[in-house]
Amino acid sequence: MSSFQNHILPLLYDPRETLYIKPGGELGSQGDQNLIGIIPPVAPGNFGSKSFRKEFGLRYAYMGGAMVGGISSRAMCVALADMGGMGVFGASGLSPAAIEDEIVKIQQDLMPDQSFGSCLIHTPHDPSWEERVVEVYLRRGVTLIEASAFMQITPSLVRYRLSGLSMSPDGTIIAPNRVIAKVSRLELAKRFFSPPPPKIVQEALNRGWITEKEASLAPQVPMAQDLTAEADSGGHTDFRPALTLWPSAVRLADECAAKYDYGQPLRVGAAGGLGTPVALLAAQDMGLSYFVTGSINQCCVESGLSPEARSLLAKASQTDMSQAPAADMFELGSKVQVLKYGTLFAPRANKLAELYRQHQTIEDIPAEEAKNLEEKVFRKPLAQIWDETQEFFRQKDPATLEKANANPKLKMALVFRWYLGQASRWAINGLTDRRTDWCVFCGPSLGAFNEWAAGSHYEDPANRRVADLAGLLLHGAAVIKRLALARDLGLLPDDHCINLSPLPPEELLNFF
Ligand SMILES: Cc1cc2nc3c(=O)[nH]c(=O)nc-3n(C[C@H](O)[C@H](O)[C@H](O)COP(=O)(O)O)c2cc1C
Repeated sequence: MSSFQNHILPLLYDPRETLYIKPGGELGSQGDQNLIGIIPPVAPGNFGSKSFRKEFGLRYAYMGGAMVGGISSRAMCVALADMGGMGVFGASGLSPAAIEDEIVKIQQDLMPDQSFGSCLIHTPHDPSWEERVVEVYLRRGVTLIEASAFMQITPSLVRYRLSGLSMSPDGTIIAPNRVIAKVSRLELAKRFFSPPPPKIVQEALNRGWITEKEASLAPQVPMAQDLTAEADSGGHTDFRPALTLWPSAVRLADECAAKYDYGQPLRVGAAGGLGTPVALLAAQDMGLSYFVTGSINQCCVESGLSPEARSLLAKASQTDMSQAPAADMFELGSKVQVLKYGTLFAPRANKLAELYRQHQTIEDIPAEEAKNLEEKVFRKPLAQIWDETQEFFRQKDPATLEKANANPKLKMALVFRWYLGQASRWAINGLTDRRTDWCVFCGPSLGAFNEWAAGSHYEDPANRRVADLAGLLLHGAAVIKRLALARDLGLLPDDHCINLSPLPPEELLNFF
């Protein structure tokens, strides 16, 4: 062992220390003449963009992304805010009344200088949901939304963004409502980095949703100043590789900022695959402005997912994920990434998608196949599922029910969507009788975390707390940065495996 490895290597693990290195890998001090290198402190609080941290009053550019049905819960938003980051409440899939209840409680739980966001998911089949949720956000003064799955800019989204828009005496535009768009495709990113489309602004104006003044200022603001470029992730995903998506999105932000000259930066955050410190450091080194995790948080004690499903998640490796059809965009063929380990949801849901492609009506499905569905998948006669589906749509969306009665293919889609929707609820509620049907959105980042945390305090999901995991990723990224610097200086062999073990919470506390 060299002197460096004996004496200095351990010091690299405290990223707050400046290390002065002398020839032979000895520790020197500031002012020494013959230093061969300096390893500076690396502060996790400097990761990401300063303007992003300032905008949202954060100590760390770290965000817990929305997770449907309140899986990213009130407790998660509060815990992340307390550690100096922020969380996004998983409003999708909940009723506007339930969303409002939780929003009010989150606002009560947070200090005035802490931030949180809430999800607005695109619902092309039910625009009224989007409208009602935006009304809740405006009424309750929610000043940050995560706009998810949008394939186009909608009037409700424009209403949210433009409401309260004003110009200060020095000509600066003040936009109280911030949108963090989440996309995986650059053509969509471009729409969000552009001003709201004039046609949609006009529509919002015609509906009395915004004032003439707000509409007139619209060309001076981007739809979203912040955009999360989501690579291969849990839930809805295009399975895009982070290594290609992130740099392209950063370049696009730069081009759009130059083109529109908004007088404020456009920022890109990284999501998809962040489950270990080295992944976060890669995003930092690629110039991303903030870091969004999802899958790893779902397995934490603050998650709205049942403890039983969390136990299953904690055992998954990164190859234990699979594609399945998305319940909300089933007819469009959209995919979600789900847990494969310990559940048969993915093959069963994929079978439904295949039958939907092959047949025009439920009655066309071969008898043997239909029997199999009734016995193994639905566990009820398909006619009964249709009755339950009709009851649901009668309350929630009678127009769609009317269409389905005239269109047998749509009727089949609604019946199949019953299974896809229920399967998520069974997992959230931990319904053990339906364990083999649990639909748990999840990406390989969780598998990567599990593999890294194996044998540590965090192997047990009961020991996983969102703030600790955030701390592990941020602190670990800082340490790895220093190890990499030491390697670049030739102090470590260039094939030295740069790695570190997860610090237990009591040691992590020293750094935060
Ligand atoms: C269980 C689960 C549910 C999710 N639900 C939503 C959602 O409702 N809205 C949304 O914008 N993103 C949703 N996401 C995506 C996350 O917010 C986040 O962007 C993503 O998980 C980051 O990638 P990762 O899974 O590799 O951590 C969900 C992710 C998971 C794992």
